[in-house]
Amino acid sequence: MESGKVKLHFPGWQKTILVTPGTSLEEALERAEIQIRFPCGGKGICGKCRIKIKGKVSAPSPAEQKHLCHLEQGWRLACQILIEGECRVQVHPLSLVSFPKILTSRISRTITTNPRIHKVHLSLPGPTLEDQVDDLSRVERSLGEQGISALASDLELIRKIPLFIRKADLRLTAVVSNGKLFEVEGGDTRGNSFGVAFDVGTTSIVGILVDLDTGQELAANGVLNPQISHGEDIVTRVSFVQSHPNGLKILQKEVIQAINQIIKSLSGKAKVKTDNIYEATFVGNTVMHHFLLGINPLNLAIYPYVPAIEKAVRLKASELGIAINQRGGLLIFPNVAAFVGGDTVGVILATSLFTRRDKKLRLAVDIGTNGEIILAQDGRIVCASSAAGPAFEGARISRGMRAEKGAIERVRLREGRVEVGVIAGGRPRGVCGSGLVDAVSELFREKIIDSSGRILFPPVKKIWNRRVIKREGSSGFLLASENESAGGFPIILTQNDIRELQLGKGAIRAGIQILLGKLGLQEERVDEVLLAGAFGSEIDPRSAQNIGLLPALSGAKVRSVGNAASLGAIMALLSQESWQEAQEISRNVEYVELAALSNFQSALAEGMRIGV
Ligand code: FES
Repeated sequence: MESGKVKLHFPGWQKTILVTPGTSLEEALERAEIQIRFPCGGKGICGKCRIKIKGKVSAPSPAEQKHLCHLEQGWRLACQILIEGECRVQVHPLSLVSFPKILTSRISRTITTNPRIHKVHLSLPGPTLEDQVDDLSRVERSLGEQGISALASDLELIRKIPLFIRKADLRLTAVVSNGKLFEVEGGDTRGNSFGVAFDVGTTSIVGILVDLDTGQELAANGVLNPQISHGEDIVTRVSFVQSHPNGLKILQKEVIQAINQIIKSLSGKAKVKTDNIYEATFVGNTVMHHFLLGINPLNLAIYPYVPAIEKAVRLKASELGIAINQRGGLLIFPNVAAFVGGDTVGVILATSLFTRRDKKLRLAVDIGTNGEIILAQDGRIVCASSAAGPAFEGARISRGMRAEKGAIERVRLREGRVEVGVIAGGRPRGVCGSGLVDAVSELFREKIIDSSGRILFPPVKKIWNRRVIKREGSSGFLLASENESAGGFPIILTQNDIRELQLGKGAIRAGIQILLGKLGLQEERVDEVLLAGAFGSEIDPRSAQNIGLLPALSGAKVRSVGNAASLGAIMALLSQESWQEAQEISRNVEYVELAALSNFQSALAEGMRIGV
């Protein structure tokens, strides 16, 4: 054993590593490549990085004393611990990172392909004393003979051509984009033109490989956004950038590595060479956009919330080190405002909200930590971002978790019984956003809570006596007892959890009401509700309407559109017109800053009521 080092055992992973005494457990976990959640970025605020540790470690910190009523059972906060001697570590099931489902679009639409990338097969006449035209002009002349005027895009290509065309025996394929010759390939490679569309989300990054000629989706893959180890929400990550000298570089590197990992797996799956991937499009919220480009997002988080850039950005792949053809193009979607990014532009593009010319009023909602709300009618689009808080993503909920394996996603109360639907089956580990909405809807229906959200103790119906409990002076509802849950902890919906949900739902509902007011319309006029994003795909629309998260509209169709933002990114890959439209959308959307409106607080208070 290296002198001075101590052993750290992770029996659940059958791993042991050596660390120097004084090493933080957070760092040791990273070195052991064991991923656990650090939702607040290791600040000791969220209380969700629970582990059990036996051995010599630092004494419980004040943050642990505050958070862990289970200290006596040996549970600690991983972010607060320093290793002092040999230890064994056990991770709480709720603290484990597991990968969320890969979400793709649920919209079926035909995209007319008109990509920027064209391939032209050329057989060049060999140079002679009579035809001493230079090599580059020879290629350009041949292209011209086929009706294509294109100039070499860069010096690297000019350097490549002389040797290359001779090696290829003067038979080659020219790759052209927007009047620029940007690649030459040996032989006839027509039919091998690919692009990849990315949705760079705060939680996960999804990439979809597309055949640029046929429009066919060849493979999709996603990974957890590795930045999550610095905090689950974007505010924590922005503060990480401000508090670490290399914070921005670290976050940019991590997101690019994840993107490249996806490209590698997609090209392997579809048996496509990465050199034949010529374009990548990116949608994401404004903060992720800034991280990807290596732009400090500080001003997005402070008043008056100004992005560094809103318009679309086009780069060469080599400028960011994205692992497609290095002379290929990167098309980064434009933003609308600090809290409305290219992902919202992607949703508007994919759902045709901008181009539909009819009198129907359509409401699109993408709920995350920020809820993006879009109202569209006859080409006019108003949109806002409402600070819904993290409740819908399972954060700040005592037994909350993301929508991943082991999360309660459905709740039904029947005659004194609690029936729960758990993602991937088995015993529940916690409750995710859709489970929370379902649970509160059912509690309201069963009169266990009133419209103010207060848990009525004792319950009106005696059949719930066993489930409505009081602990330390506060009421709660027992969703799963220690015998019913994984990990032996009861899953209790507390009064605070319900308040967190009310804050989130109030913010969304207030945003909807204010946008309707902006158009001078009442909610009864809404013809269609589109639910975008992961939460929108999982939520039961009836429960959302029952608690008043969405207006209860008898005539309106409610439709989940899945990851519509990624479809927007695919459309921009396949169609030049769609890319132009994305830019027009960002210029034409009317953004409403809710925080600046005097009536927001009263709308929020009204929106927080359950069932209204
Ligand atoms: S308390 Fe440890 S990550 Fe939040």
